[in-house]
Amino acid sequence: MEDLQALFRWSHIIAGIIWIGLLYFFNFVNSAFAPTMDADSKKKVIPELLPRALYWFRWGAAWTWVTGVLLLLIVFYHQQQMFDPNNPDAGWTTGAFAMLAVTFLGVFVYDTLFNMVKNTQVAVAIGFILLVGANYGFIHWGNFEYRAFVIHTGTLFGTIMAFNVWFRIWPAQQKIIPAIKEGKAPDADLVSLAGLRSKHNTYLSVPLIWTMINVHHAGTTPQNEWWYLPVIVLIGWGVVYLLYKKASKVKGF
Ligand code: HEM
Repeated sequence: MEDLQALFRWSHIIAGIIWIGLLYFFNFVNSAFAPTMDADSKKKVIPELLPRALYWFRWGAAWTWVTGVLLLLIVFYHQQQMFDPNNPDAGWTTGAFAMLAVTFLGVFVYDTLFNMVKNTQVAVAIGFILLVGANYGFIHWGNFEYRAFVIHTGTLFGTIMAFNVWFRIWPAQQKIIPAIKEGKAPDADLVSLAGLRSKHNTYLSVPLIWTMINVHHAGTTPQNEWWYLPVIVLIGWGVVYLLYKKASKVKGF
């Protein structure tokens, strides 16, 4: 099991680097570069560059998710890292199963929320309140042990991000890129959907990476506090905001 865990962890991080590296290329490099091209260059460059980048992007996302779930299975569900053995209320209770459902099905609440509420600030505020509720639930209803509660918040984010890649961004790009190749204006709704979901993924990625590495800092972070990860999420969003600001100022020669 230890060897298998090392293998899954290694593959998980390689796939994660491919995925998130390309996400940052799209959001911090390409978003500033693409508007500098004239129509002819766009027709030539985009159909050659983007399908290649999107190939590694979407398969990176798929393998990160699959290897992440394999790690969940062997580190948490198989090795009983889920619950504190000294907590008499902890175990595979209805509350624990309900919080597993929140982890893997929360993506549909997110998708419905951002499809229905068109004001982004309102949708983000509702999403943040739901996140606080989920964190309270992981600790008090699921009785998840600290390491499990943090990684399940990361899994919730990662599942939303992988869903965005495969079911929102990639299907939109499959229509946008051929339109550009034919010299036509792509559907504005698809362009805005793909751009928005890619931006969501960028904002989710920085807090997600905290949850992935937090096992090493468990001793220095507040344990079993529902407010702690939402505070980290807010700090992460501030970091992403500054990265976007910097990206818009980096110039070509
Ligand atoms: C897509 C959904 C994801 C799931 C379900 C997932 C799940 C996991 C799990 C269960 C672990 C083991 C944690 C532990 O032993 O406490 C882990 C570790 C890790 N994950 Fe993810 N992960 C996901 C996405 C990502 C992404 C996008 C990255 C970014 C590169 C990432 C980077 C890492 C790293 C660096 C570790 C190693 C932590 C360590 O051993 O120090 N993960 N992940």
